[in-house]
Amino acid sequence: MTADPTADLDALLELATALARDAGALALSMRAGIRTESTKSSPTDVVTAADRAVEELLVEGIRAARPDDGLLGEEGASTPGTTGLRWVVDPIDGTVNYLYGLPQWAVSIAVEDAGRRTLVGVVHDPAKGELFSAVRGRGSRLDGERLACNTLDDLGQALVGTGFGYDARRRAVQAGHLAAVLPAVRDLRRLGAGALDLCAVACGRLDAYFEQGLSPWDSSAGGLVATEAGARLGGLRGRPAGFPMVVAAAPGVFDALHDLLVEQDADADPVGDFRSPDPFDW
Ligand code: IPD
Ligand code: CA
Ligand code: CA
Repeated sequence: MTADPTADLDALLELATALARDAGALALSMRAGIRTESTKSSPTDVVTAADRAVEELLVEGIRAARPDDGLLGEEGASTPGTTGLRWVVDPIDGTVNYLYGLPQWAVSIAVEDAGRRTLVGVVHDPAKGELFSAVRGRGSRLDGERLACNTLDDLGQALVGTGFGYDARRRAVQAGHLAAVLPAVRDLRRLGAGALDLCAVACGRLDAYFEQGLSPWDSSAGGLVATEAGARLGGLRGRPAGFPMVVAAAPGVFDALHDLLVEQDADADPVGDFRSPDPFDW
């Protein structure tokens, strides 16, 4: 199965943008009084009615417009499709912020080709009314304005974002990595929505970001927004960005942060849940 080489990137971007705006409006309308409905991987990994309703809106919209494309959603949507294109959606990235009324959560929509390369990425932050977008080879934008990541080359001056998984055992190991990184950088931020962290690198609100445990719905759209803004994106030791490690950084500080994370063996599997047979094939 190969991706349709004539895939109309403008049409995909237009659809992803419209869906992201509708999804964001629905999530905003459901915010007041929202509660945890259930939990997933751990008691702190929450699902609200909005996560489900927003994913349903996205799935219906994608199926109506592009019935033959594949689909992968955090809340369970999964269709192989026949065109080679795959839509990867996180209805609410930053659910814990959403639950607590903190304004740092987003709708994330990516379209990938058969080689799992992201062609189009849209990350919409409804609380701020911002929309990040990127098309492979055509740059990334925030509300239409072209983005460029920062240009510093001293890790000691870098504001670095990170995030933690929901598994307490993974967190214990991640805490150890922070002890090594924190003295080497300007400061650390844990903003709470991986897709927005990647967009923050793209627009210079962060100089770099790293995290273990991201899934495609967290990183596919934001990863393209970051790289199309000139950021470097990867895993450790030449591996692609993936579940074991995502590093996105201004090119001048990527290597220094990368090397620090390698010293910490920060892409090792502390929980035994790296996907097999190939944990990098996501
Ligand atoms: C989470 C957020 C968080 C990151 C976690 C993700 P969710 O996604 O992106 O910032 O640290 O690894 O799972 O659960 O809010 O969609
Ligand atoms: Ca997420
Ligand atoms: Ca989510």
